[in-house]
Amino acid sequence: MVIEHNVSLQPYNTFGLNAKAKSYCNITNETTLTEVLKTENNQPLFILGGGSNMLLTKDIEALVLHINLKGIEVINETEDVVFVKAMAGENWHQFVLWCIKHNYGGIENLSLIPGNVGTSPIQNIGAYGIELKDVFESCEAINIKNQNARVFTKDDCKFGYRESIFKQELKGEYIITSVTFKLTKQNHKLHTDYGAIKQQLEASNISKPTIKDVSNAVIAIRQSKLPDPKEIGNSGSFFKNPVITIEQFKKLQSNFPDVPSYKVSDSMVKVPAGWLIEQAGFKGKRFNDYGVHNKQALVLVNYGNAKGSDVYRLAQLIQKTIKRIFDISIETEVNII
Ligand code: EPU
Repeated sequence: MVIEHNVSLQPYNTFGLNAKAKSYCNITNETTLTEVLKTENNQPLFILGGGSNMLLTKDIEALVLHINLKGIEVINETEDVVFVKAMAGENWHQFVLWCIKHNYGGIENLSLIPGNVGTSPIQNIGAYGIELKDVFESCEAINIKNQNARVFTKDDCKFGYRESIFKQELKGEYIITSVTFKLTKQNHKLHTDYGAIKQQLEASNISKPTIKDVSNAVIAIRQSKLPDPKEIGNSGSFFKNPVITIEQFKKLQSNFPDVPSYKVSDSMVKVPAGWLIEQAGFKGKRFNDYGVHNKQALVLVNYGNAKGSDVYRLAQLIQKTIKRIFDISIETEVNII
């Protein structure tokens, strides 16, 4: 177990922010993880996965445990389905590509989402009509205080829109070490209804898509709209899409007839925050080294040497402006540290 001090976290967060960790330990096996949790319990700990959903506004006065557990294995299968267990430190997109290579279906719509397998259940990642919960079988996690291992079933996780028990009741209590997925081996159920996917497949003249075709379509759409964190620092959607009541929505629609929306239930409607932010005039706005992406207003970006605190101030200005113009509160999806 090697503990380093005063380590820059710039390479480990997709926003590319240069915050420092007071101390840092790279965790590559579960024995080390248990050992560190036992021996280093006299100081604050900070659990770092793929660093793709956080805005570091300051240095981390804690021991950062960087979860880099690796491995993918098939643990069970029938003629139709396969149960694949992936360790928490596997890169999410590499895992999706591994599944596609083996013709395991279910997560092709989640191609190119930044981050790691281990953090995917925490915010129930989702895109293009699919959420992690649709393929989630279970996950294993270690209790930070007593180091007991626990298996969480889908019900245990209480998944919601970008939500789970790990962001609520059990926040900061467990470290997810692996996730098991239930995927299809044949008769894949493709989800290609999402407008952009349909158009992308049509443009490529594909009428009977395979899971690889769907993955390629999603990759093309994401690349055309979302900045690559390797080139421009970002954390994907910075805000969640707000869910409002039908009454609120009707009022909004009377002032802004073009507002897009998705029905959530008979009484609730989801409105795209990207649309609200664009209407408020922020899309493509750049302030020094940070700003709002020019192709998707939901994404805040670091062009080089931005400070997390500057990005956070911009986020707060956006929230205030949206509240003033539309009387809607938008919450951050990204964790503000
Ligand atoms: N829109 C605008 N201006 C913008 C962005 C979007 O007017 O700058 C409008 C679009 O025209 C469209 C609507 O908003 O009518 C929805 O846009 P889009 O399809 O891009 O999806 P989104 O709701 O903005 C969500 C997820 C994304 C995911 C896409 C596709 C959230 C917070 N975000 O974005 O997730 O890729 O749907 O399924 O739910 C992420 O979480 O990091 C992420 C990228």
